[in-house]
Amino acid sequence: MTSKHSDDYDFLFKMVIIGDSSVGKSNILSRYTKNEFNLESKTTIGVEFATKTTVTDGKTIKTQIWDTAGQERFRAVASAYYKGAVGALLCYDITKQSTFDSVEKWLKEVKEHAEPNICVLLVGNKCDLQHLRAVKQEDAMAFAEKNNMAFIETSALDATNIEIAFQTLTNEIYKIVSADTSRRKVDGTDLGKSEKIKLDDNNAKKPVDRKCNC
Ligand code: GTP
Ligand code: MG
Repeated sequence: MTSKHSDDYDFLFKMVIIGDSSVGKSNILSRYTKNEFNLESKTTIGVEFATKTTVTDGKTIKTQIWDTAGQERFRAVASAYYKGAVGALLCYDITKQSTFDSVEKWLKEVKEHAEPNICVLLVGNKCDLQHLRAVKQEDAMAFAEKNNMAFIETSALDATNIEIAFQTLTNEIYKIVSADTSRRKVDGTDLGKSEKIKLDDNNAKKPVDRKCNC
């Protein structure tokens, strides 16, 4: 009988969580990786990361998720933060219009510092606070469509769509990477883990599912 070592994986994906301060990035991460939520969490200092391993299409995918503060004074680390990232959760707070207005600025930062074909998922967090909603779903959906991103609303507090958000992004990346690796198999080129995998332009532009179940 063969047994897989706990650190065995077929793909390693680095993802980053970005968005203004207080939108809930750290709680999205802790809900996903530890099933924990903190109502009084402090702003993130420096950079933190956590990992989670899932299975997609029979392949073991280890996801390394990086989290940093949304505050401007921490942005100096940007290029190191984005290095090697194949996915980004771009988060705003559905109760704060200013955090949605910043999404464009974040997207610009992604384009400046990340791999050109990084998969970006737009995440409207705090959807448990429907009574305080300031950002319409239609506006976020239109923005996502215009920028060729998928969109989802989540709540780190009650866990709505947190798993689905990460799964959606993982699946999008996997689609691109597996198309890339099968082409390389045909080419007879050596295969490796995701650090070696370059995302391909044409594949990155494949249409994406736009899920919004809040
Ligand atoms: P920075 O580290 O400063 O960039 O902030 P952040 O984006 O990591 O925000 P954080 O996760 O620390 O959350 C900020 C505040 O929002 C905390 O008081 C959280 O408890 C709260 N919060 C986070 N997610 C949710 C959510 O889904 N619903 C509600 N109601 N509150 C949330
Ligand atoms: Mg934080």
